[in-house]
Amino acid sequence: MQYTALGRTGLRVSVAGLGTGGFSRMGLKSGKTEDESARLILDAVDLGINFIDTAPPYGTEGVVGKALKSVKRDAMVVATKAFIHRNDVWSTPERVVASLDNSLRLMGTDYVDVFNLHGIEAYEYDYALNTIAPALIKEKEKGKIRHIGLTENPIVDFTNAALKRALHDPVWEVYMVGFHMMHQGARANVFPVTRQNGIGTLIMFAVRSIFADPPRVAREMKELARKGLVEKWLGETDDPLGFLVHAGGAADIIDAAYRFVRHEPGVDVVLFGTGDAAHLRMNVESLLKPPLPEADRAKLATLFGHLEGIGLDGHEGRTR
Ligand SMILES: NC(=O)c1ccc[n+]([C@@H]2O[C@H](COP(=O)([O-])OP(=O)(O)OC[C@H]3O[C@@H](n4cnc5c(N)ncnc54)[C@H](OP(=O)(O)O)[C@@H]3O)[C@@H](O)[C@H]2O)c1
Repeated sequence: MQYTALGRTGLRVSVAGLGTGGFSRMGLKSGKTEDESARLILDAVDLGINFIDTAPPYGTEGVVGKALKSVKRDAMVVATKAFIHRNDVWSTPERVVASLDNSLRLMGTDYVDVFNLHGIEAYEYDYALNTIAPALIKEKEKGKIRHIGLTENPIVDFTNAALKRALHDPVWEVYMVGFHMMHQGARANVFPVTRQNGIGTLIMFAVRSIFADPPRVAREMKELARKGLVEKWLGETDDPLGFLVHAGGAADIIDAAYRFVRHEPGVDVVLFGTGDAAHLRMNVESLLKPPLPEADRAKLATLFGHLEGIGLDGHEGRTR
């Protein structure tokens, strides 16, 4: 495994981070038991992963807790989250702290390394900063939170609008950002300032469902070409990203997707979720490979650098 600094938090984190949400929820969604899911987390730890992301709605905090029993707590960097606004109800600071306390109970730990406000949109930002953050600072002083962060909600926020508002408020030490081969806005919107200010970055949506599904990539590309948003030839082939796969380049599209994100300047941890032990190993292998050839990176920037909001699927009935 390779390790890096998470911004200026002082945390040393694996460049591959295990996301226990997404569509797989560590396999719970496809019928794995909690013990099997916890085993998968320990497989990730065996591969050197020390960063684990969870959140109350994923239903995986208990599984993280099971896995944490078998490892040294201080060797792991654990992140969880809380909503501040859901179903038209704004959470009080007390409710957010109760969510933190419940997460700690489920995970069997007395502190969380990174506590993120979950899926914040620009219109929620003032409330996050002025009403919720002061309560989080108090919990940090008590030692229950090591670092405070924000995750954006790329499913509805295609332009990093919430993070752009937050960039100059020093309370946020870590951001979770959506970024991938066909959604590259964070390169201009977020990374220049996070790099300058030492804000740690956790990347989501590197693959999600789009790049795990080649026929879908072709379908979306045809639609983008029809709308004139990408070059015409990209809509005339069933393998529009095939140019990335060659000797000296990527092994396949998923390999390309992870390597593209991993080596973007400003990226600290690339999160991925899986319920599959073979995918876990393959993803770590990809993240440890060198960058894509410079010509391929440049081509991806030229062809898709202007796109926003491609392949940012949500869960049915849920938007984060
Ligand atoms: N706003 C937020 O706070 C927010 C939003 C989204 C995500 N997140 C976090 O980010 C983490 C990562 O989420 P993500 O959005 O990047 O999506 P993801 O959950 O990593 O999606 C990857 C998808 O591709 C599949 N996959 C993974 N590796 C594969 C491989 N090698 N070959 C084929 N299929 C593969 C997975 O299914 P298999 O089970 O079949 O491998 C999964 O369905 C989440 O777990 C969560 O922790 C946070």
